[in-house]
Amino acid sequence: MGHWYVICRIALKCYFSLPLVAGALLVGLPYSISLVAQWLYGWPNKPGYQKYIEALKPRRIYCLTRAVLEMLKYLQYGKLYFQWKLWYSNDKNNKHYVKGITFGRQGNKLDLYYSPSMGHSDAAPVPVVVFVYGGAWGSGDRSIYCLLAIQMAKELNVSVICPDYSIYPKGNALNMVQDISDSLLWVRENGQTFNLDQDNIILIGHSAGAHLCALTTLFLVNNADELFIETNKQKDLVSSIKGIIGLSGVYSIMDHYNHEKMRAVEYVSTMHKAMDGVKNFDYYSPTSLLKKLNEDQLKRVPPVALLHGTNDIIVPVESSVKFSELLTALSIRMSLYLIPKMNHTEMVTDLMAPDRHFYHTVYGCIKQEGKNDSPNERGNGLVMTSRCRCFPCNQSTTSSPVRQRLPHRRDEVELELGRARACVVWDVED
Ligand SMILES: *[C@@H]1O[C@H](CO)[C@@H](O)[C@H](O)[C@H]1NC(C)=O
Ligand SMILES: *[C@@H]1O[C@H](CO)[C@@H](O)[C@H](O)[C@H]1NC(C)=O
Ligand SMILES: *[C@@H]1O[C@H](CO)[C@@H](O)[C@H](O)[C@H]1NC(C)=O
Repeated sequence: MGHWYVICRIALKCYFSLPLVAGALLVGLPYSISLVAQWLYGWPNKPGYQKYIEALKPRRIYCLTRAVLEMLKYLQYGKLYFQWKLWYSNDKNNKHYVKGITFGRQGNKLDLYYSPSMGHSDAAPVPVVVFVYGGAWGSGDRSIYCLLAIQMAKELNVSVICPDYSIYPKGNALNMVQDISDSLLWVRENGQTFNLDQDNIILIGHSAGAHLCALTTLFLVNNADELFIETNKQKDLVSSIKGIIGLSGVYSIMDHYNHEKMRAVEYVSTMHKAMDGVKNFDYYSPTSLLKKLNEDQLKRVPPVALLHGTNDIIVPVESSVKFSELLTALSIRMSLYLIPKMNHTEMVTDLMAPDRHFYHTVYGCIKQEGKNDSPNERGNGLVMTSRCRCFPCNQSTTSSPVRQRLPHRRDEVELELGRARACVVWDVED
């Protein structure tokens, strides 16, 4: 911050003019913010001094300053922060969960939250949700999601497992996929001890976590050697996954990289580092992997439900829409729920307490999925309810794309929905 002080001194001493000081502030502040961000998180990927030229481009400075200032919005979650900190450190809550079970090859830990029916001696084995948190492949911690996990267990009448995984720089995306696979293996091998139904696992992930849920399942379906799990075990794991629920997820790394570029955060983001560079983007994209599966493998992909808020600027809603199109084209059971006016953070923060705005909306959509055990002929697991309106509504138009206007950030944006059917949740109370 030295140059700051100098700029101010010079301005004050020589001219003592307010406009000049204001000007210096207006230019100096954004430059300082974005240079510090880039110094901490990574310079542009250019040779020699060119990286600094790239780093100093006005558009980059403007966008980065905006991105950093947007982080200030997280201050409003201060109250929630203290709520989960207190809950997690309070020993009285230990009756609701088992904390810090070590699992898998990388020695990560998981927490296991009991279902409400746990403890009834006659209770049948309970289904399991494995919740994979997000954090751009480089941040996050299982303790943050204790309130979410306990509510999820209550709402869905399941046990919830919240594993940590080897976020960058501890590991790369492949290590993360191995970790999620290991957490599933843990359920299968230790489930009985906790009265879990080892054959009834649902993967729910947010953001990067949704990406990891989809990617892990597809690696398993593909029987990937890189997982270092025996073929039989991989097969068993796949058949125990009864569904994937992606919340505000990333499914094409290249698309997301282009979105990051637009926000000028591509070099400060951990994504390309966790993926070991652009050359591996396809390898780590569920969208690319799906296209490589044969017919037999495609049949083994479990049903997928995608939820996305239309006000999301971190991962745009198009990410889920595009993925849903692909799943539909490949005849994989799929539901898409678009939630007007919801943003990226609310998708998880609002699942932490019943008084939060989108709590009932999101759990309502997830519960809807549980009911859809009899898919209709089109292989689409969606049932229309009064809360939702489905598009395209007219079956005979589904072969050509339908442009649908949705309540969206910056007034309204048209979404192109091709053959996929989306459920727009309209009756979100304001
Ligand atoms: C919750 O699940 C348990 C076992 O999975 C079942 O016995 C119980 O009836 C369920 N409760 C409700 C309210 O659905
Ligand atoms: C998400 O939306 C809510 C409600 O509009 C807003 O208060 C909050 O600041 C937004 N959060 C972020 C991180 O943008
Ligand atoms: C659906 O499309 C067909 C053919 O374009 C048309 O005849 C029919 O009236 C449409 N139905 C509805 C409910 O819009």
